[in-house]
Amino acid sequence: MQLFDVYPLNDITITKAKGSYVWDENGVRYLDMYGGHAVISIGHTHPHWVKRIEEQLSQIAFYSNSIRIPIQQQLAEKLGKVSGKEDYQLFLINSGAEANENALKLASFYNGRKKIIAFSKSFHGRTSLAVAATDNRSIVAPVNETDNVIFLPYNNEQALEKCFAEYGNEISSVILEAIQGVGGIIEASKCFLLKIRALCNQYNAVFIADSVQDGYGRSGQFFAHDYAGVSADIYTMAKGMGNGFPIGGILVAPKFQAKHGMLGTTFGGNHLACAAALAVLEVIERENLIDNAKETGEYLLSQLQQIKGIENVRGRGLMIGFNVPIELKDLKKNLLHNHHIFTGEAKPNVIRLLPSLAITRSEVDEFINALQKEIETLTSVKGVDPEMEKASVEVLAEVGRS
Ligand SMILES: Cc1ncc(COP(=O)(O)O)c(C=O)c1O
Repeated sequence: MQLFDVYPLNDITITKAKGSYVWDENGVRYLDMYGGHAVISIGHTHPHWVKRIEEQLSQIAFYSNSIRIPIQQQLAEKLGKVSGKEDYQLFLINSGAEANENALKLASFYNGRKKIIAFSKSFHGRTSLAVAATDNRSIVAPVNETDNVIFLPYNNEQALEKCFAEYGNEISSVILEAIQGVGGIIEASKCFLLKIRALCNQYNAVFIADSVQDGYGRSGQFFAHDYAGVSADIYTMAKGMGNGFPIGGILVAPKFQAKHGMLGTTFGGNHLACAAALAVLEVIERENLIDNAKETGEYLLSQLQQIKGIENVRGRGLMIGFNVPIELKDLKKNLLHNHHIFTGEAKPNVIRLLPSLAITRSEVDEFINALQKEIETLTSVKGVDPEMEKASVEVLAEVGRS
């Protein structure tokens, strides 16, 4: 049987990982500035995470949500403490798309409405409603198409006000990433977040903070939306939550009343996933990783801002992006093949950095040195090329003549 070929692959096989590094089958070491797509929060194969999972595995890995699972409650308590949302309620699932799907559904149950406001360049996942609220027509199948999603320009308060004025009491929810990831590391302004909060309050719409990529400490605060000092009604989480063990969740504000059967899942909140997620929070707390994301992120940002050749360096914490001009179009590929560094991208020309929250300054320096070298190589090749070409054509012409 063949794999269903939906991923463009790098021809690399990773067989081992530790901290900010991974190794291929030939023992070549790579620096992971991509965090396996923002998933690696506490560092690859962190010993405490491995131990917690191993211990849980030898006890019980799974039983259905028809019995008491005390480790779910332990996770809820720890998550409340670390996130500062102690009065919220936790519902556990398995992925980011599933988190957004359930959040949008819960909002609709709550206010009995159908319309969703989403934003240009948003990405919320690939399940039915999540993909309908994603601003990428090429991944929306005909069956996912709906008139219930209204796309507005990001960071545009007037457009938001106008939409609420027009549809008012039909709007069920507003879903937004405080820092757009797939969209290219674009930050919502404080005023925009405050405006969403105010309009949701005024019209009894639900504010959903998609924190799947920018949450869990990556921005230097537990939720990226926190920097505006506003609370969302539902926070969706996944990537960093299990450090690679699949788990997702939604944090639900106290005003939502749970009812039996309202939401549900077979695998969500299983013992093994909860053990992985608890280990992540324990390490985040013990090793002060949110502070590290803030401080090392600021350092990385300041180093990048001094590099000539790249443009519009931006981001918060360890969610950083910069634009790559056309003459450096091979930068990402060359960083991987010439310097053994994984980075992320956002089309058409953005490099995204999403390393583990435990990354050190010396690992940042290693990246910056390689980046600088590669930019010099690419620009010098580029600079010399036309002249060299001209000169060699002339030489060849000379040779031909003689
Ligand atoms: C902001 C955001 N929301 C949702 C998702 C979907 O998460 P998953 O792939 O776990 O379904 C992603 C994935 O990249 C994301 O970046």
